[in-house]
Amino acid sequence: MSDYTFDQLDRDIHRVLEQHTEHRGIIEGVRPLLQRLLSNEHLIPETYRAPLADKYAQYLLYKPEDEAFSVIAFIWGPGQVAPVHDHLVWGLVGLYRGSIVEKRYRREDHGETSQPRYSLREVAEVTAHAGDISFVYPPDYDIHGVANPFDELAITVHIYGTDIGKQERHIHDVATGSYRDVVTRHDNASPIYT
Ligand SMILES: [Fe+2]
Repeated sequence: MSDYTFDQLDRDIHRVLEQHTEHRGIIEGVRPLLQRLLSNEHLIPETYRAPLADKYAQYLLYKPEDEAFSVIAFIWGPGQVAPVHDHLVWGLVGLYRGSIVEKRYRREDHGETSQPRYSLREVAEVTAHAGDISFVYPPDYDIHGVANPFDELAITVHIYGTDIGKQERHIHDVATGSYRDVVTRHDNASPIYT
């Protein structure tokens, strides 16, 4: 089987976005497309498959001109962690190599005048292995923390409904029910595939 190209993916995702406006419909439409990407042995060039020393690496693989979506590879060295965060856009997380642990949280608001104004309740902890696909979308399925607590390198491939490297979103402090604004920029200046 020849490998699924980003030209094909671009057409297929735009078709899904024409057909669906609900998050869940988009995710179900994009899921088999991500599955095809994950089966490509050559998807991520060898030079990008090494972890950074101090944090997980975030490499933009592809985005279309209209930035209707973006495809990103994350390289997780042993012990590397993404703090609890939201996305404010639909997204899918596919396991390409190794394993990660994902903790999912549900936000429970206590009202404008309460201190803290909200709390995050842990609702699930999932260990994902190669080929597994998880998803996020606001407001109820949007907050998670991701970690690679294992001895092996892990690589995840994500598709989001915008350029996630520009998206203004939040890192949450579970202990205090507070957050700070964040933009997580890509570690490569231009996409690996154009
Ligand atoms: Fe995430």
